[in-house]
Amino acid sequence: MQRILIWDIPTRLFHWTLALSFLGTWLTTESDRWLSVHVFLGYLMLGLVGFRVIWGWLGTHYARFASFWFSPREALSYLRNVLDGTAARHIGHNPTGSIAIYLLLLLTLVVGLTGFFTLGGEEQQGLFSGAMSLVQSRTFKKLHELGAWVMLLLVIGHFAGVVLESVLHRENLARSMLTGTKLAAPGAPVAQPRRLVAVLMLVLMTGAGGWWFYYAIDASLDQQVGRHESGIEEPQVKFVGAKLTDDAKWRDECGSCHMAFHPNLLPSRSWQRVMREQERHFGADLALDAPTQALILNFLSSNSADRQGTEASFKIARSIKPGAVPLRITETPYWIKKHRNISAAQWQSAPIKSQANCAACHQDAEQGTFLDAAMQIPVAPAASAAAFKASQ
Ligand code: HEC
Ligand code: HEC
Repeated sequence: MQRILIWDIPTRLFHWTLALSFLGTWLTTESDRWLSVHVFLGYLMLGLVGFRVIWGWLGTHYARFASFWFSPREALSYLRNVLDGTAARHIGHNPTGSIAIYLLLLLTLVVGLTGFFTLGGEEQQGLFSGAMSLVQSRTFKKLHELGAWVMLLLVIGHFAGVVLESVLHRENLARSMLTGTKLAAPGAPVAQPRRLVAVLMLVLMTGAGGWWFYYAIDASLDQQVGRHESGIEEPQVKFVGAKLTDDAKWRDECGSCHMAFHPNLLPSRSWQRVMREQERHFGADLALDAPTQALILNFLSSNSADRQGTEASFKIARSIKPGAVPLRITETPYWIKKHRNISAAQWQSAPIKSQANCAACHQDAEQGTFLDAAMQIPVAPAASAAAFKASQ
């Protein structure tokens, strides 16, 4: 027996990057603040799968599909052999593992593509922004989640397989995926390292994907948030959905005391109440004349939460009880749910002061889009001073 190279560098890099990305996507599902990381990892995984498919044809011996092309029947009978302890040792992928690999590659594609549709419908972002409504994208979201769960089960199965095989054949399979080598009988084919070609390919593919994604967010965010006033070219990928409707008169009248809250944040019946009670508006008298009042109410109603297709408006509208007519965005159940993790101390800290100061944390509050990618939670001065001290 001699120690030979089985897993070439690109295959190992692919394996561990995919594994870490998979873990990362699971860790970033809960909070919207991590959505751009989640989407980035999704792009990365799709890029990796693209690479692996090419490497399955052009790669070294054990990385090629031809070396682990087994039928489901062989996979099942191998699984039976593993369970009764009689499975033969394979230096490359074994039949059961091979089927798991093909399924994982396929599922990554399915989960990645349904992710694109979910992002397009729910956030009106990415490649399929504008291609479908929020309601239509729900099916894709369900598939996205289902696919991710099936992938998780497969990964757990793969884990169990690695442990079982390692015990059965007294070798550390996880370590050989790190070092790339295994003990083999003389005459077994050796993977000829073609490092330069491989690493170049990997860097090119993941680099291009990452750059594309980053450029797309960055350029479109600049445009959305207005970081630069002019000279922004149209981004290649519409990461940001269509601009919401605007109205100069409304901005003028409703943006003088506080930020003009975009109509998509409350349902029409709330806006009617706000305008009806304009003389006692949170302790202030708006003193609008009748024509102005009608004009603004018309703008508010025709762009209200029950009319707009953004994720926030859909969810705000859905969260309010049918009979309720909230005057505040900050008292709608969806808003409360989304902000429940912010502590009282944070709300009172200097850069925020009031819950209605949306722009303190949402860079695109003025535009009313409330994109996850435009969220930026300010650190209170006291906290940042402490962090500074700690870092010294
Ligand atoms: C004269 C000053 C003034 C003007 C003009 C004004 N508001 Fe207000 N508005 C207030 C005050 C004060 C509050 C309460 C802020 C707080 O509690 O932090 C408020 C709160 C609100 C809220 C609730 C925000 C929340 O907590 O969710 C909405 C909605 C709102 N205003 C809509 C409007 C609209 C629509 C117009 C234009 C027709 C308008 N406001 C014009 C003073 C004003
Ligand atoms: C202290 C910072 C802060 C302020 C001020 C704030 N938010 Fe938020 N907002 C957050 C955070 C953090 C989240 C993300 C919660 C999560 O991860 O799910 C969020 C999420 C949201 C979302 C959900 C985004 C989505 O996925 O659709 C909406 C809508 C929203 N905020 C609207 C508002 C509005 C309207 C105001 C002002 C009335 C406001 N926020 C004020 C911190 C803030």
